[in-house]
Amino acid sequence: MSVIALHPKQQPEANGAPATILTPSQSPVSAPAPLALSLRGITKRFGDKTVLDGIDLDIPQGQFVAVIGKSGCGKSTLLRILAGLDSPTSGTLTVAGGNASERRSRIMFQEPRLLPWARIGRNVEVGLTGIAKGEVARDLSLQILQEVGLADRAEEWPSVLSGGQKQRVALARALVAHPFILALDEPLGALDALTRIEMQQLLERIWQQQHFTAVLVTHDVAEAVALADRVVVIDEGRIALDLAIPLARPRRHGSAETARLEGQILDRLFGRG
Ligand SMILES: Nc1ncnc2c1ncn2[C@@H]1O[C@H](COP(=O)(O)OP(=O)(O)OP(=O)(O)O)[C@@H](O)[C@H]1O
Ligand SMILES: [Mg+2]
Repeated sequence: MSVIALHPKQQPEANGAPATILTPSQSPVSAPAPLALSLRGITKRFGDKTVLDGIDLDIPQGQFVAVIGKSGCGKSTLLRILAGLDSPTSGTLTVAGGNASERRSRIMFQEPRLLPWARIGRNVEVGLTGIAKGEVARDLSLQILQEVGLADRAEEWPSVLSGGQKQRVALARALVAHPFILALDEPLGALDALTRIEMQQLLERIWQQQHFTAVLVTHDVAEAVALADRVVVIDEGRIALDLAIPLARPRRHGSAETARLEGQILDRLFGRG
């Protein structure tokens, strides 16, 4: 099951060399190096259908980008390419800076995709496959579970958790190896409104601590404006709007400035103005 995605070129195993397993004295994970991501002329076709049509996008390290667009416009396709799960038909994706182990990427989906036969701590350790094992992996797993407020549940089974708690475990698994980029494909889409706001706050807090690049696909314009530094609207395979969100954090839902930015995005989505 591909719950974790590494860029194919970034996998330590990709060149035939075994993954390095580190001892407790060595830190297998650290804050991501300054890596810039650059997409040039990214086109994706399925048969004769062009889903992405020459996307150019530069994302500096640590930026929080939200991607919005109508259903079927190619958001998940773009995210899969960014996360290294899929290749473009043409065009290039470049990651500048860092070494192979610093170029880890992770993806999170709407469903938590936890292993039902593994305890919560072990589920988080899956994010360290090929990076750390044993005591080191257990310690790192507990540290990140602490961050998401679930350290006391490490020995329990996924089935006893609520939907929001399961997504917090999925977030912990995605972040335990300190990826430089976290791709999020509507990860909060199935949560109730209050849990969703709590998860937004948690995601923002951990993003501010860990400085990874976040690319969040969402259908929720308010969520995009609440969380992102920048909102990209995709329409007919192209970037129809690339809007900076220059609001201080933490952001208040329902302010006049928030409403104005949301209006601008909605106008573009519905072809108004
Ligand atoms: N593996 C595939 N084979 C053929 N067509 C595909 C494949 N993956 C996606 N598509 C098509 O590409 C288009 C974009 O799909 P994608 O999943 O990227 O859309 P999306 O913007 O994420 O939609 P949604 O908001 O509904 O999740 C759709 O028309 C879809 O049918
Ligand atoms: Mg999608």
